[in-house]
Amino acid sequence: MDAFTFLRNDHESVLGMCEVLDGAPQGKGAQLSGLRTMVTDLVVAESRHEAIEQQFFWPLVRERLEDGNPGEPEYHGALVAFIEAGRKHIAYEQNVVWPRMAAALSESELQDLGATLARARQKAPTRPHPDTPSGPGAQKTMGAAAAELDKLRDAVTGRSDPPDPPTS
Ligand SMILES: [Fe+2]
Repeated sequence: MDAFTFLRNDHESVLGMCEVLDGAPQGKGAQLSGLRTMVTDLVVAESRHEAIEQQFFWPLVRERLEDGNPGEPEYHGALVAFIEAGRKHIAYEQNVVWPRMAAALSESELQDLGATLARARQKAPTRPHPDTPSGPGAQKTMGAAAAELDKLRDAVTGRSDPPDPPTS
């Protein structure tokens, strides 16, 4: 089976689950319908699909296809999508997750986490590394290795570090 046939089958399977979940009941009916199991199945299927694409398909895309350049429509379309996703990500964390975490963490836990984050940013990769396994342990060790490689590539390509945001 060729790669497109394989990936298309995978896509069809995930899209089929999405279609079923489009009509998912809300309220009391949600629990009776076994929604949680269906959502878990979707997460499993999507996670496996993403993992194999990130490990084997996207590295080949980056190797074989040209990057877009500033001035080309594809480049600017991607930039707009990236900025929008960035804003959504920040709004979600600050407006949805932070208030709940503020209530769940003690002041000293917040202080410790702040120090950990500040230390970790120094060693964090300068490029996205979607092929890194997503478990926190793997991220910590693979992240450090990836960061070293990034620094090497940054030095070779003259890519500079953006200034750190204020730490006050
Ligand atoms: Fe896909």
